[in-house]
Amino acid sequence: MDATPVWFMRQAGRFLPEYRQLRERYAMLELVQTPELAAEVTLLPMRLGVDAAILFADILLPLQAMGMDLAFVSGQGPVLGHPVQDAEDVARLRPVDVETELGYVLETVHTARQMLAGTAPLIGFAGAPFTLASYAIEGGGSRHYLRTKQLMHGRPEIWQALLDRLTDVTLAYLRAQVQAGAQAVQLFDSWAGTLSPADYRQFALPYSRRVLSGLSDLGVPRIHFATGTAGMLPLLREAGGDVISVDWRVDLRRAWDQIGHDVAIQGNLDPALLFVPQNALAQGVRHVLAQADGRPGHIFNLGHGILPETPVGNVQFVVDLVHRESAKAKGEQL
Ligand code: CP3
Repeated sequence: MDATPVWFMRQAGRFLPEYRQLRERYAMLELVQTPELAAEVTLLPMRLGVDAAILFADILLPLQAMGMDLAFVSGQGPVLGHPVQDAEDVARLRPVDVETELGYVLETVHTARQMLAGTAPLIGFAGAPFTLASYAIEGGGSRHYLRTKQLMHGRPEIWQALLDRLTDVTLAYLRAQVQAGAQAVQLFDSWAGTLSPADYRQFALPYSRRVLSGLSDLGVPRIHFATGTAGMLPLLREAGGDVISVDWRVDLRRAWDQIGHDVAIQGNLDPALLFVPQNALAQGVRHVLAQADGRPGHIFNLGHGILPETPVGNVQFVVDLVHRESAKAKGEQL
């Protein structure tokens, strides 16, 4: 189909009633660690007509494999026990044999590929070293990332040791996902935007670059995602990726000018627009499409994950509208 492809970050999650039903019977980690169930969840959003499936897993699973206690606490989000504070904590993190310790994810990839049977590509993913480090240090989500920044600036040798380990695991994990059948990969650096451009360049970029360049021989598209990055888009590009994800805080056209037109762009509807009346929602969608102006490298997406209470009907509305309007515009250009 000659239309702009569309899919949504966090599309396999709680906004879907089928997912919520499964969650009544299974805990989050149980779902993720049972490949048949995880593959089933991966495919749930396909009924909306999205153009890619995203693996059902979580960016924090490698931290668990490294020996950290991980729990998803309802109403609170992820919690990691005994956060990393000093050199001993880093030394305690185990090297990970991906095939065994994260083998359940690879099995999910394999099963999901079989179930998709070529109808849509499967995207694998992992957290970027900086974002993973922030969870390992803060013990969960954070508002100001104080501990993370204290360690980064105050104990740079510990920071480097931690980030080196996270980089090695992340690269091995993504390579294994591709070998298991993932047809594209996304690196989630969700909280990179909390850093100044100078700090991003020094403390985060080198590690993300090592992950992204370490995948180049595999020949799969690499999507590089972060939010709050309007002030450092060229740096994201420098870190790497065939597709750069941008959020709604920057106009898509400006973002593209800064990143360079030889790179594809994913984005950038504000996830909150899925809660507003459909005429206003349609306006938001058309604005994104107009900014992308039919360029071949545009993937329509949100600027960040889909929110849990999002009305399913509005998601369907956006998928259909993006396909219809972009196909029409492309037809007119011929
Ligand atoms: O389609 C999909 O995207 C589902 C697969 C997926 C999950 N997590 C499952 C999940 C993906 C791609 C992720 C990535 C992820 N996990 C990120 C990066 C993306 C982003 O939004 O920035 C981050 C930061 C995490 C860490 C995490 N996991 C948080 C902060 C939370 C709690 C808050 C929230 O957004 O749900 C989780 C839990 C989680 N991961 C759920 C799901 C479906 C909800 C668990 C539940 O059922 O209660």
